[in-house]
Amino acid sequence: MDFPSTPLPDRRQSRDAVLAQLRDLKRDDRKWEEGKVFGLVYDAGPEHHALLRDAMALFEAENGLNVLAFPSIGLMSHDLVQLTGRLLGAHAHGTSVAGHLTSGGTESLLQSVKVARDVARGRGVVRPNIICATSAHAAFTKAGQLFDVDVIRVPVGEDFRADVSAMEAAITPDTAMVVASAVSYPQGVIDDVTAIGALAADRGILCHVDACMGGFFLPFLTQLGRLDVPFDLSVPGVTSISADLHKYGYASKGVSVLCFSSEELARHQLFVTNDWLGGFYASTTMAGTKPASPIASAWASVMALGTEGLLELTAATDDAATAIKDAVRAHPALRLVGEPVMSVFAIAAENSTALDIFAVAERLAAEGWHVDRQHHPDSLHLTVHAGSVKATPAFIDALNRAIADVGTTRTENRSTTYATGD
Ligand SMILES: Cc1ncc(COP(=O)(O)O)c(C=O)c1O
Repeated sequence: MDFPSTPLPDRRQSRDAVLAQLRDLKRDDRKWEEGKVFGLVYDAGPEHHALLRDAMALFEAENGLNVLAFPSIGLMSHDLVQLTGRLLGAHAHGTSVAGHLTSGGTESLLQSVKVARDVARGRGVVRPNIICATSAHAAFTKAGQLFDVDVIRVPVGEDFRADVSAMEAAITPDTAMVVASAVSYPQGVIDDVTAIGALAADRGILCHVDACMGGFFLPFLTQLGRLDVPFDLSVPGVTSISADLHKYGYASKGVSVLCFSSEELARHQLFVTNDWLGGFYASTTMAGTKPASPIASAWASVMALGTEGLLELTAATDDAATAIKDAVRAHPALRLVGEPVMSVFAIAAENSTALDIFAVAERLAAEGWHVDRQHHPDSLHLTVHAGSVKATPAFIDALNRAIADVGTTRTENRSTTYATGD
């Protein structure tokens, strides 16, 4: 995008002047606090955000690069990895959870691929590949480009879950890893993790479960008795799992967890060198300097909410998502894409020549609703979160009105809008 630029000022400016400019810069941003943004932001309410801000402020200057200087960051990171692993079946592999924090879902997936590449190289594979479905996150393709790993995408079935037979057929002697999503970003479905894990175990390769979206939702949905599907590290053959604290862990942006089935695998995430003038250098993330504020925010978030809070937020979010999904099922012009199991799902037109769902998206956007647009099929993508609950009845109303208003008109704009670059 073309943004106007503000030059470096010649003179110092007052704190008030700078903050006023920042507030002004935000004027065109989506007002997520109203609950009208179905994606990008996960909102557990104003009190929770006030806590996150205070926690971030406490660690504004610290640097997680060196936990000898800042042991608090090491302790918080350790807590977050341990409690995430315990939520996600790591007990099947011992009492201590092997894993590391990363800066977000994308980095967790990048690291999972790097680990798989290094393990494959260890058995002599020169150009490893990984196999994932077309529904697996774009970050796997990014990982392939960054780490010289071929990413073989196989189709999804009619249910939009990874086609496991196609995965099996795609495996070569150079395959390092197969991927399952729990849930997939585009349609919010859970792949057959049991079958994909079994395939990996049978072929002696790694299996990563991308639970970036579902990792802090599915376990609570399960505890609520609303889901009974195996998807985590306790499934035989699964060797790593990622879960984003900055999504349904309701932390500020910049924290995800990558857990492994063994310490040996986790060690591949560690970069160590002594081969320069600066001395011993070890790091488990892509970045060197590591912001402590997101880690403190994540720690504060889960400690404040506890199991009780996360169960309540999950139940309320699931209720809101169910209300929207039911409204979609009840509308003759709409359909859900696949069978979404949680609060992430896609809405398509029942008959795409009779209703242009992107025209509906434009009508909703004009009323201040933020829903992403995706393709194959053209659809609206919704991430319902706790902050959406209050706006859900109004959204259902707006959706029904938008469909009636749009009629058979179409929009020229066929662009999809998940991530825009800058
Ligand atoms: C399933 C899944 N994996 C990975 C990611 C990437 O996460 P991030 O945007 O935090 O890098 C997302 C983001 O929505 C996701 O839904």
